[in-house]
Amino acid sequence: MTNDSPTPNYQLPITNYQTPTFEAEQIHLREEAARRQSAVALAHPNIAFIKYWGNQDDALRLPANPSLSMNLGSLQTVTRVTFDPALAQDQLLINTRPIGDAGLKRVTSVLDLIRAMAGIRQMARVESESNFPVGSGIASSAAAFAALSVAGAAAAGLALDEAGLSRLARRGSGSASRSVPGGYCQWLAGDDQSSVATAIAPADHWDLRDLVVIVSQEHKAVGSTSGHSLAKTSPFQEARIAGAAARLQACRQALLARNLAAMGPVIEEDAILMHAVMMTSRPPLYYWQPATMALIQATEQWRAEGLPVYFTIDAGPNVHLICEAAQAAAVEAAARQIPGVKDILSSGPGGPARLVAM
Ligand code: DP6
Repeated sequence: MTNDSPTPNYQLPITNYQTPTFEAEQIHLREEAARRQSAVALAHPNIAFIKYWGNQDDALRLPANPSLSMNLGSLQTVTRVTFDPALAQDQLLINTRPIGDAGLKRVTSVLDLIRAMAGIRQMARVESESNFPVGSGIASSAAAFAALSVAGAAAAGLALDEAGLSRLARRGSGSASRSVPGGYCQWLAGDDQSSVATAIAPADHWDLRDLVVIVSQEHKAVGSTSGHSLAKTSPFQEARIAGAAARLQACRQALLARNLAAMGPVIEEDAILMHAVMMTSRPPLYYWQPATMALIQATEQWRAEGLPVYFTIDAGPNVHLICEAAQAAAVEAAARQIPGVKDILSSGPGGPARLVAM
């Protein structure tokens, strides 16, 4: 057949053939999980382009402002939840190490919500493993609570939809609500019912890269949970919240149009506004180190030299460099030259939190 011959119009002999859809596979795995009272789920962490900082309600983790993020496909947490009548209390193992105290309490609080919804009383064993280091500048709680919610709900025999799972994950960690849907997600402020994350574009919409430039692996002195409650002590928090919806709208539009030149300045401004709030809280939170500032200034310089790259920074000193896939190697090489840079992790967009075969 030559290239210019018309495409033949084949009639498939089997007309009702279907490949199993994501949804069909999840239903099958959920039924199996309910039978075994055990399930395994995988979730990706996410990087926020428009940040969540501060709650309207700390207990329900209702955010003070809407946020927008990208799931990080190369990084993942896999969690098994097993309800077991022989257990006297919940058990938590992270990367094979038993965890008690605050970490276990937080997991138990989500399991309690699951038990209440399912009408069960059994305690659970939770085993979780991640392929990225704790303290690497990636909020590990997002992937952890998204995976816990998906696995826990299925193991308890609950058939929650995406919104139900995002709501449940939110109660464990706010940013975890955004790790439930796939790709690029927005999480709305609102009440307990409406404050859930939804996908605005799938992972294959745009091959953005997050290069996580690690300048310190030390455990941060003040974690996000206590940071959120300090946010309202900053005189800048009100102004930050007032502009968040407009920044989200601008970021969302640029993202949907795959326009990094329009999106970049918005995400940089949003990150700096959050850090201005952190630095002006009482007591103040200074997450930056000298290498953080060096990377901010280098990013400006690289752009001036024609390399399209923008930064964002979470509650820590590490800098996330955001660029398109075609520029990732050049950005990484440039970042490695900056004194104080210890390592760089790279990720493109990732899919939703999901059940996986046991
Ligand atoms: C700076 O979701 O980690 O990463 O709800 O207390 O678990 P908790 O807080 P968390 O806060 C994330 C803060 C952030 C910005 C963001 O991811 O939106």
